[in-house]
Order: sequence, then structure tokens, then C-alpha cells
Amino acid sequence: MEHWCDGSCRGPDSLKVRTMAKYDDQWKGQDEQAATGRRKALSMIADPLLSMVHPLTGKVVVDLGIGTGSLAFRALEFSPPKTMIGIDFSSPGLCVARGISRHPRFAEYDVELVLADLEKIPLRNRTADVVLSQATINLLPDKCTAMREIARIARPGAKIAISDAFRTTRSGGDESWEQCIAGAMTVNEFSNLALSSGLIITGQADLTQQVRALVSGKKWDWPEFLQHNMDYRVFLLTKG
Ligand SMILES: C[S@@+](CC[C@H](N)C(=O)[O-])C[C@H]1O[C@@H](n2cnc3c(N)ncnc32)[C@H](O)[C@@H]1O
Repeated sequence: MEHWCDGSCRGPDSLKVRTMAKYDDQWKGQDEQAATGRRKALSMIADPLLSMVHPLTGKVVVDLGIGTGSLAFRALEFSPPKTMIGIDFSSPGLCVARGISRHPRFAEYDVELVLADLEKIPLRNRTADVVLSQATINLLPDKCTAMREIARIARPGAKIAISDAFRTTRSGGDESWEQCIAGAMTVNEFSNLALSSGLIITGQADLTQQVRALVSGKKWDWPEFLQHNMDYRVFLLTKG
């Protein structure tokens, strides 16, 4: 086990303040139409993730770091669950997501949007049949607490699909935290973190080429992903 669960994975709260300011700003500048465009573009990585947890019918699904809902609303298009709970600490993001949830296309579905910190999820133990998270885990200063929270809210046997950028080596760096780079783990660190949180990895897919294509084609404004030669993976986990 490398250093992610020895206490040093607990970053300073100032990282959270910076992250919240960045996404508040980003989502304030993104109306529902732009959010729909983002959802369409990112379906290239959302669809492989969703295919791992399909079907969602009758399930309680929680999307951690929902933002404006590119993954959650794609899930509703793909296979509508019983309830979709989206959690984020950015009010502007949730505001856009709330607007989209009222569109005729989604209005009939049960979508709950919760303003909260992912290191303290306001859901009861064993609430979720499925937990999703896309491009968010790297932003959490205290990944150990967040992963334990995921294990706590998941029902035994739940499917948990987490995607994000991964470092190809563990080296120091002063890259921006808010760009999902400085807080990125190696695959080995993530595997150890999952295990120590009581979660078992049951599958994974490498989406690096898809993300490279999105960034190169200017459909995802994330030049740091290419600059730092990151991998992008989705992991499927479960709770025993
Ligand atoms: C890169 S965006 C991804 C949004 C969405 N999952 C998507 O794929 O479009 C990361 C999201 O995580 C949220 N976030 C970051 N740290 C968080 C925390 N500690 N608690 C709650 N939300 C957080 C941000 O506000 C932002 O909306």
C-alpha cells in the first residue's frame, strides 16, 4: 500500500475551497443547452461506464459529483432507475441539473439533487443499489473518507462504477488540483484504496483513447490530460 490511506491522503481544506470555486464558476457559465452538449460529447465515456451497471430499472442510483448531470441524465436516457440521487457541493451545477430534470424528457423520473460534500454523504447506510462517479474522485482531498462513505451507502452486492484519470507513474507534481491531475492516483494506489475501504474490484475498462479523442477534438476542455500523459479508466467495484 502506498500513501493513500496512512493519513497523508488527507489534503488541506483549501483544495476543496479552490475546487468549489472552480466548478461554481464553470457551471455558472454553462446553461442547460451547453450542459446537454457536454452530456452528448461525454457519452463516449459515460456509455461504457453505464454498460457495466446496466440495467438500472427499479434501482436506487447515486451519482457522486453530478455537476450538471452529464452522467446522471445519460443514465436516465439509457435505462431509467427507480430513483436517481445526484450529489455535488456546487450549487450552480445543481441548479442547471435541476432545470434539466424538469425537461419533458426527464420530468417523469424521480431525480433528487443534494448539495453536500462527498466526504460526508447525507444518505443512510445501504441506500444505494448502484453508485456512479465520473471525473470526480481525483478532486477529493480525503479519498479514504470518501471511499469509506461509498462503502457505507452501498448495499451489499451493489454495483459501483468510478471513472477518472490515472497517473501512469507516481511522481510529485505541482499540477492544478482542480483539473483532476494533482489528486490523481496510480491504478495500484486506487486498487489498494478500494480494498482497504471494503470494496472489491470486479472489472475495468481503459477509456484513455476516448478521452484523448474528446480532448484533441476540443469536445472536452482538459488539455492537462494530454500534457500529463494520463490514463482514463473506469472501475467496477462491489461491496461484499
Ligand atoms: C469534473 S466535474 C464532473 C461532473 C460530472 N460527473 C461530469 O462528468 O460531467 C467534478 C464535479 O465534482 C464536484 N465535486 C468536487 N469535489 C467535491 C466534493 N468534495 N463534494 C461534492 N462535490 C464535489 C464538483 O463540484 C464538480 O461538479
